[in-house]
Amino acid sequence: MKQNLWKTAYKQNHLVFKLGFSILLVGFGFRLLFSQSSNVIPDNNNNNINIVVDDDNNIIDKDVKLVPSGFTDAVKELNKFHSNDNKSESCDIFDGEWVPDEDIPVYTNNTCRWIESHQNCMGNGRPDTGYIFWKWSPKACELPRFDARTFLGMMRDKSWAFVGDSINRNHLQSFICLLSQVEDAVELYHDPDYKNRKWHFPSYNLTVSVIWSPFYAKADIFEDINGVSSSEIELHTDILDKTWTEQFHTWDYVIFSAGKWFIKSAIYYENKSILGCHGCNGKNNYTDVGFNFAYRKILKNVFKFILKSSPKNMIIFRTSTPDHFENGEWSSGGRCDRTVPANEGEFQMNELNRILREIELPEITKAEAEASEKGMKLKLLDVTPLSLLRPDGHPGPYRHFYPFAKDKKAKVQYDCLHWCLPGPIDNWNDLLMNLVVNG
Ligand SMILES: *[C@@H]1O[C@H](CO)[C@@H](O)[C@H](O)[C@H]1NC(C)=O
Ligand SMILES: *[C@@H]1O[C@H](CO)[C@@H](O)[C@H](O)[C@H]1NC(C)=O
Ligand SMILES: *[C@@H]1O[C@H](CO)[C@@H](O)[C@H](O)[C@H]1NC(C)=O
Ligand SMILES: *[C@@H]1O[C@H](CO)[C@@H](O)[C@H](O)[C@H]1NC(C)=O
Ligand SMILES: *[C@@H]1O[C@H](CO)[C@@H](O)[C@H](O)[C@H]1NC(C)=O
Repeated sequence: MKQNLWKTAYKQNHLVFKLGFSILLVGFGFRLLFSQSSNVIPDNNNNNINIVVDDDNNIIDKDVKLVPSGFTDAVKELNKFHSNDNKSESCDIFDGEWVPDEDIPVYTNNTCRWIESHQNCMGNGRPDTGYIFWKWSPKACELPRFDARTFLGMMRDKSWAFVGDSINRNHLQSFICLLSQVEDAVELYHDPDYKNRKWHFPSYNLTVSVIWSPFYAKADIFEDINGVSSSEIELHTDILDKTWTEQFHTWDYVIFSAGKWFIKSAIYYENKSILGCHGCNGKNNYTDVGFNFAYRKILKNVFKFILKSSPKNMIIFRTSTPDHFENGEWSSGGRCDRTVPANEGEFQMNELNRILREIELPEITKAEAEASEKGMKLKLLDVTPLSLLRPDGHPGPYRHFYPFAKDKKAKVQYDCLHWCLPGPIDNWNDLLMNLVVNG
């Protein structure tokens, strides 16, 4: 059944949902994607504010229940798009299953030197390896493996950029590691925090950049080098982040993906004045407009920017990925101890991941349609449903070097959000290559 995956992801979707449910923030000490500053606890009994926005995301009413505009249409649109597949030669590559795979990984911690230590599960002593031996297999066709040599050949004199958060950087490392098996990358640049970097593949004159822009928009973040924050983030929902907009026209291929940072406590600015906040617990009587407000608004601005600049480049939007904490959350001892993929329907997306998805899917599909009218290439890389099936792919305790070496019962912070390398997200590049080759 074609739509199975979609159904899995949407099973728990109820169309009336509360915007701006209250988020409590509790300081805790570890550095993950959220860094050390915030924890997210949806609390539906406390301080609900429901707002209604118009199509441009302007607030038009408060304290009313809301059917998110555009969401049902987007799902219909997607279903149409997915059932159209047999018209063309390509199939729905996002509709499939994880099947056992005997091939040894293309790279390991020994053959790729670009894996960040927190995602280097092998190097950090993760004892099981079964999670590496699966591949994504679409139901209706064969999905060829990412072929680095062919890919590099296609990308002569081209430039790529990954723009977004640390999960996008996670993906970038997989990409660089795969390519590096043909020719090792030469690093041209990195900032002091290694959040913005640039590589070159000399024989192919291919450059690959990663740009850290977790909101896509101008944001003042008050965190020290340990990630401890001294104040709420100040996010300008109407000003895009220059770190990527100024270079945008120089890239041939751009992959965007973010989302999770929007969950953090923040004060929202528009036209340089305070519009409201999210998770600020009544501070200064700011209106809590909810993070979904900011995410939608900024996505709209990003697409407006992209569509207006009518680029020749190819834009790929990767959807945000679910985490797999079980028996707790980030700070409350949540774990991910599984060693095999989940069955379809076994995992449901949690509330926060679901809300992100309900915002990004309609915006991406709308932009995709507009882009195609203009003859531009804007593609959806929808990894959410297939990633939902891989609770076994996260570092868990192995974001740390041999976490149980000294004490078998050591209390260790689990990471059930980022992904082991090598690991399931290497398959994202099989999908990516398919989009590029057929683009
Ligand atoms: C796709 O194929 C199925 C049968 O294989 C057919 O019923 C359906 O009409 C086709 N859809 C399109 C859009 O061609
Ligand atoms: C890679 O991981 C293996 C298994 O943990 C380890 O023995 C090896 O030293 C690691 N290699 C590097 C370069 O860290
Ligand atoms: C390498 O590619 C860039 C475009 O990305 C181009 O401007 C430059 O001339 C190329 N260099 C060579 C030596 O071909
Ligand atoms: C932004 O603020 C300035 C000064 O307060 C005002 O003149 C202008 O109309 C505002 N612009 C928008 C788009 O709201
Ligand atoms: C917030 O509102 C309350 C009640 O209207 C008022 O007493 C208080 O002074 C306000 N606080 C700020 C910081 O404006």
